[in-house]
Amino acid sequence: MLNPIKLVNNNFLSSLDLSLNEIDHILLTALEFKNRNLNVQLKDKVLGLIFDKSSTRTRVSFQVAMSRLGGTTIDLNPNTSQIGRGEIIKDTARVLSRYCDVIAVRTFNQSDLEEYAKWSSIPVINALTDMEHPCQALADFLTIKEEFIDFKNLILTFVGDGNNVANSLMMCGALLGVEVRIACPKGYEPNPMVINKVKQLSKGRNLIKIFNDPYEAISGSNVLYTDVWSSMGEENKSEKKDKDFNGFTLDSNLVSKANNRAIILHCLPAYRGKEITNDVFESNQSRIFEQAENRMHIQQALLYNLLY
Ligand code: CP
Ligand code: NVA
Repeated sequence: MLNPIKLVNNNFLSSLDLSLNEIDHILLTALEFKNRNLNVQLKDKVLGLIFDKSSTRTRVSFQVAMSRLGGTTIDLNPNTSQIGRGEIIKDTARVLSRYCDVIAVRTFNQSDLEEYAKWSSIPVINALTDMEHPCQALADFLTIKEEFIDFKNLILTFVGDGNNVANSLMMCGALLGVEVRIACPKGYEPNPMVINKVKQLSKGRNLIKIFNDPYEAISGSNVLYTDVWSSMGEENKSEKKDKDFNGFTLDSNLVSKANNRAIILHCLPAYRGKEITNDVFESNQSRIFEQAENRMHIQQALLYNLLY
């Protein structure tokens, strides 16, 4: 049985909060949960979920993960709690710390998530911000590990907006030694601060490459990944972005330029006909639903290591 390890950081706010060893351990633990080799009881532990944005996978995978571990969750809807009326994070975090054992927060600004962590005496997990989606990246690399066994010589190409999902893939990829390429239209490159951090982590290995031509980027890639062009909170930009991302749809022509064993990933929800065509989404190269399932195994592994 895999024992939990004491994570160096009490919170999981960013992919960079984990070391390579810790990521490896979480991926292995998630596989143990998936294969039903681990029977862990976190009885009486309570996870609070604060979601300022919509969610299906993250919310439900956390709820089911906690229930499989013998614990419970409380879904704090901002509209029916005092959060939506403007009770400040500093107070909410201190109160919830006295009721819950861990909280997962989905919100807009990374600084708000950090404010929760600052005032909480319990672990805080990033369930997505405008800057990062680190739980998603762990499930993505678990899906990649299941396919390719190890991460050696792999190239992951993300075709789309340089967004939260792209940021976490770059960071987690750099820790695992995976080359991550981002193919996006000019002006939609990831945050330069994230690129710089990832370059420092890569220690001269050139693990991050930015392209404005998706064909050039995808050549020789083993993992093809895409996400919505307009993230939650960007609804007013979607008309312009739909035009600007013309030519960046993951279609069969683009897929044919990758390695012929390449797999297709998408964090979901997907907009068929925009960032991905229906035939690529449904193709036998797609591992999109394995990836979605892996969210739950990763949440179990994370909670186990943060709480046990
Ligand atoms: N991929 C993901 O985070 O999905 P949800 O927005 O449904 O949680
Ligand atoms: N980039 C997307 C991811 C959704 C899971 C968003 O932030 O809306």
